[in-house]
Amino acid sequence: MLSPILVGILILIAYVHTKQILKHKLVLYTIAWILVGIVVAFNDLPFLTPFIKGFVGFAFLYVVMIAGALNPKWKLTMRLKSVRTPYSILGFTILIAHPLSYAAEILSHSREVPWFGIGAFLVMIPLFITSYITIRKKMKPKTWVKLQKWAYLSYALVFVHLIVNASSVQNRIAAILLFIPYLSLKLFKEFKRLKTMKSV
Ligand code: HEM
Repeated sequence: MLSPILVGILILIAYVHTKQILKHKLVLYTIAWILVGIVVAFNDLPFLTPFIKGFVGFAFLYVVMIAGALNPKWKLTMRLKSVRTPYSILGFTILIAHPLSYAAEILSHSREVPWFGIGAFLVMIPLFITSYITIRKKMKPKTWVKLQKWAYLSYALVFVHLIVNASSVQNRIAAILLFIPYLSLKLFKEFKRLKTMKSV
């Protein structure tokens, strides 16, 4: 049940510290990479469990997802949208520690291969690389927008991964409780957009 709590905290931080996140994003990216190193090196420390189990990385990515589903006129949505790029970079970077922590067990066949998680991760790699502004600037804006649409496939794969690989029933319920509002809000938004397009 940790994911909803972390999501709440990250939304609050994004709302209150929008400017600071944008100003210090490079420092935050560096901290995230250092964290990955620490998690991989000291993965038996109990307080690192939320990083190892993927909860922290997922919470960042969920905030990115929900920002695209909320009413764009809300102040909260505007603030969340402005930290979308730093949050997606931080989320993916922190998430790297998660598959790395399970790699040995998976490769030695002592754990089942989490195919959906691997799929989600692979789809996210090009999205993550092209999120960095220096690389984004080298791409045509249309190509970049088209590429970002693949994020929806990765969201769907993450959802299945959380349902299939959750370590408890509570965590499975938490994942469903997070995805239902996302899906409902996103579908409602898309439906409204298509309706306005038709009436123009
Ligand atoms: C975007 C990609 C991914 C996200 C957001 C993600 C996130 C998560 C989360 C939140 C859990 C639930 C943990 C729990 O309920 O205790 C989980 C479980 C798990 N994930 Fe991922 N994951 C991703 C990709 C991967 C990849 C690439 C691998 C391995 C190569 C992997 C391996 C696992 C395993 C083995 C579990 C089960 C953990 C357990 O039984 O304690 N995941 N993942």
